[in-house]
Amino acid sequence: MKRIAVTGGSGKAGRAVVDDLTTHGYDVTNIDVAASRHPDEPTRIADLTDFGQTLEAISRHDAVIHLAAIPAPNVLTDAETFRTNMMSTYNVFSAASTLGIRRVVWASSETLIGLPFEREQPRYAPIDEHHPLLPESHYALSKLAGETIAEQFTRWTGMTIASLRISNIMEPDDYDRFPGFWDDPRRRAWNLWGYVDSRDVAQAARLALTADFHGHEAYLVAAGDTCMTQRSRDLMEEVYPGVEVRSVAGHETLLSVDKARSVMGYHPAHSWRDHVS
Ligand SMILES: NC(=O)c1ccc[n+]([C@@H]2O[C@H](COP(=O)([O-])OP(=O)(O)OC[C@H]3O[C@@H](n4cnc5c(N)ncnc54)[C@H](O)[C@@H]3O)[C@@H](O)[C@H]2O)c1
Repeated sequence: MKRIAVTGGSGKAGRAVVDDLTTHGYDVTNIDVAASRHPDEPTRIADLTDFGQTLEAISRHDAVIHLAAIPAPNVLTDAETFRTNMMSTYNVFSAASTLGIRRVVWASSETLIGLPFEREQPRYAPIDEHHPLLPESHYALSKLAGETIAEQFTRWTGMTIASLRISNIMEPDDYDRFPGFWDDPRRRAWNLWGYVDSRDVAQAARLALTADFHGHEAYLVAAGDTCMTQRSRDLMEEVYPGVEVRSVAGHETLLSVDKARSVMGYHPAHSWRDHVS
């Protein structure tokens, strides 16, 4: 498995994924509507909401990492966010199956678990892949629909699809903002104080290309810790009293990465603690 098509490679996660795969010896094509910032990294410009463009763009690759999307609610209108994310994800899965590409890794999202936990509280913490899926935005709904489509494509075709339920992505410069989170535990309670370094997103995406599993599987992808200085159990007791807190030590993440760790060998290597004194 050498030739990898990365959609959305000009974006935040995509830049890290392209760098990481290139460093690990893969032959990478960035497919995006926007050109890469790096002039020496050519971009295959394609709008993935169009099936023909998707089919041509991902042809002659061994696997696809699909990151292209409208990456959050309230960037575009709800309907345009849903249409873009839904059609691009369907087109990537369908084109991959038509071309005989056997493995697709794609960016789902932590949001489908119920963020920002205003209508309903988390059922328990640390949250894992068994937690009920409770999308609260049209963006999160597009990710849930993507996972549903992934489930059916793997059943129809025997291809393997990894849905990475990625937490809030941070680049090293973003860590300067973290001290501003600490005085009020409610400020970042919307995703149980989670985050993930873009380089760890890249690690998870690369590992998912070759990890030993079949069919469709979802994996939470988060940092190993929270963004806070308070202990994880104390944060839960203060903001979500009454919610069951299972095994969690110190500042450990409340978005469990145990499944990604045990199936794919994912070990988050980056923390804000290495950047903020
Ligand atoms: N940023 C986060 O905190 C976060 C958290 C969880 C999941 N995700 C998911 O991770 C993925 C990457 O997010 P990001 O933060 O790097 O976003 P980003 O906006 O930085 O990058 C997304 C890229 O997709 C491209 N794109 C959008 N529509 C396209 C289309 N129709 N055809 C081709 N390319 C198109 C954009 O030009 C952009 O370069 C997305 O799927 C997002 O939903 C992001």
